[in-house]
This record gives sequence, structure tokens and C-alpha cells, in this order.
Amino acid sequence: MASTTAQALTYTAAQAARVAFYGAHYLAARVMARQIFSDIGEPPHPLPSLASTLAAMRDLFVQDWKNIEAGLYPMPVDIASEFRLALGSTRFLVDAPRVVARNKRKAHDEVRTRANGLPHYYRQNFHFQTDGYLSDRSARLYDFQVEALFAGTADAMRRRAWVPVTQFLNRTRVKKPVLLDIGAGTGGFLSFVKSVRPELRAIALDLSEPYLARARQTLRKHRNVEFVVAPAEATPLPNASIDAAISIFLFHELPPKVRTEVAKEITRVLKPGGIFVLADTLQYGDAPAFDGLLDVFPSLVHEPYYSSYARADLDGLFGAAGLKRTGTDIAYLTKIAVFEKPKRNRRQELRN
Ligand SMILES: C[S@@+](CC[C@H](N)C(=O)[O-])C[C@H]1O[C@@H](n2cnc3c(N)ncnc32)[C@H](O)[C@@H]1O
Repeated sequence: MASTTAQALTYTAAQAARVAFYGAHYLAARVMARQIFSDIGEPPHPLPSLASTLAAMRDLFVQDWKNIEAGLYPMPVDIASEFRLALGSTRFLVDAPRVVARNKRKAHDEVRTRANGLPHYYRQNFHFQTDGYLSDRSARLYDFQVEALFAGTADAMRRRAWVPVTQFLNRTRVKKPVLLDIGAGTGGFLSFVKSVRPELRAIALDLSEPYLARARQTLRKHRNVEFVVAPAEATPLPNASIDAAISIFLFHELPPKVRTEVAKEITRVLKPGGIFVLADTLQYGDAPAFDGLLDVFPSLVHEPYYSSYARADLDGLFGAAGLKRTGTDIAYLTKIAVFEKPKRNRRQELRN
């Protein structure tokens, strides 16, 4: 009991420190971008109040702690990696004025010509970020930027997406299951996964070479991780080779047509009975207090496909590809939707 109380206090202190630290960086960037914020006008839905934002953040951490207590993952207090990430403060603060200036110029196509050979929709400065997804400098900045944007809650939201995966892995009879992270970025999520389940075979797939190079570095101590530079809509992975696939914060960056292609590709690579976990922004109506945020977010941070994603029919999208929704969870600003590829029945098995 004493150790549980001590652990609860440690957890609370660590998360409060995170929120204070990254929240301060969010506020600093917001002060730099005050003109942009004052120009946004009245959105169709009201913006969330501070009280409802703090209440939703509290709910996120309360559930995170319950998951830790339930043994779904250990307490996320990795001082060394927190410290390494926090060292990005200066880099973030030096780059933030450049991002704001790019935002004021609406210069979201600086990387258009640099990224020849990559799909047209990808060759943009998403979030007005320096170099888009196309440099080591951008890869080094990325994780700090995301934590600052979400005021220190991003990792807790990602951890929630692990819950249906670990529950699936606990019940599957497959001997050496394979997890595919689609749009794995710099490998932060897989690094968490490998700390929880070191033996799990994992594939990090992303279109950005510099981001995957960073992921390789982050995951260098872990075995059984493959890195694949490829578009999610046309992967080199064999049919029915993946037990569980996950995608965190990717789908809102894809044009609707590409979302359909990626849904089909996920279905192709999943084994029958396998699952796909989609973790991405809330959609309209998921948490009505945040609908106003969904209105203003895409223009504030250059997210050209965000609005259409926020209104997309996920059951229609994945249902047409052959997946069936089996669960949904809301984690602060993230919705986690779980889909299953139905098992083949005996007659289908005999036919193949
Ligand atoms: C917003 S980041 C999310 C990264 C990571 N999953 C996370 O939790 O932070 C989107 C990632 O998806 C990648 N991406 C975008 N379009 C892609 C595509 N068509 N195929 C593969 N990766 C893509 C980007 O390079 C980037 O690393």
C-alpha cells in the first residue's frame, strides 16, 4: 500500500512536471504567434474553456494511472529519456520564430521541389515545420514540438493506443507476433513498446528517411525491429504477414483518396483475425467541448487534410476495405478506434 502511494505520488509529480515544462513552451510559442491567434476570428463552434481542457487532461492522466495499476504497462518514468527530450528546449525555442514567420507568409510549400520522387501531398511543410519531414534537423525537433503542442500529454495519449494492442497480444495464440507501426516517425512509440515487450517483433514504416534514421538511433538497443522506408499506401510487406498494426497521428495528414488506399493496404498485410489500431485526432462530436478546436486547428498549423479527416466516416472507410470496428476510446484530444480483419471461415480456408 505504502509503495502504491509512493508510486502514485511519483507518477503525479512526473506528469505535473511534464505538463508544466511543455505547457510553458506551448505558451512561449503562442506568445510568438499571438497575431496569428488574434486573426482566427469566430469559429463555427465555441472554443473549449480552460476548465474543460484541464478536466479532460485530468481524465487522461487518471485513466493512464488506472492502466498502470492494472498492469497494462509500467509507470513511464524514464528519467534519462525525459532528460534527453527536455534538452531540445533551446532547439525548439530557436526554431519557433521561424515556424511563426513561415505561418505568417503561409509558406507551406518550401519543400515542394526538394522532395522529388515523394508523393505530391507529402511534399509540404506540415505544421509549417522547418524542412517538413525531410531533414535530420526536423526529425530532431519533432518529438519536442509534439509534446509542446499538446502541453506534455502526447505520450499519455499514445500509451492509450497501446492498451488494445497489448490486450490482443495477450489473447492471441500466435507464437511470434509482428507489430507494424505505420507512420512511425522518430520511433518514440515503438521505443515505449519495446521497453514493455522487448521480445515483440516490430516494423517501423515511414515515408521519411531522416525520421526513420532517427528511429533507428532511438531503438538501437532493441532487437527484432525492422525499418521500412515506404508509403503506407504501397508497402513492400507480404500479404497476411502482420498480426497487429497501429497508426498514430498519420491519417489526418493523408488526402481522402490516400486514406482509402492505406486502409486497403492495411487489410492486405494483416492476417485474418489481426487488428488495426487507429489513433488520431478527435472527430466532430466525439467530445463536443473540443469541436471549436477542430475548427481552428488546421489553419493555425497547416493541416490541409485535417478538416476532412475530422468529418470522415471511419466505419465506412475501413469497412469498405474489409475491417470491422471492435472498439473505441477517447483519450483527451485523441480518438482510438480498433478494427479487426475477420477470420476466414472453414469453407474459405478450404477454397484457398
Ligand atoms: C504527425 S507524424 C506522426 C508520427 C508518429 N506516429 C507519432 O506518434 O508522433 C506523421 C508521420 O507519418 C509519416 N507519413 C506521412 N504520410 C505518410 C505515408 N503516406 N506513408 C508513410 N508515412 C507517412 C510522416 O513522415 C510522419 O513521420
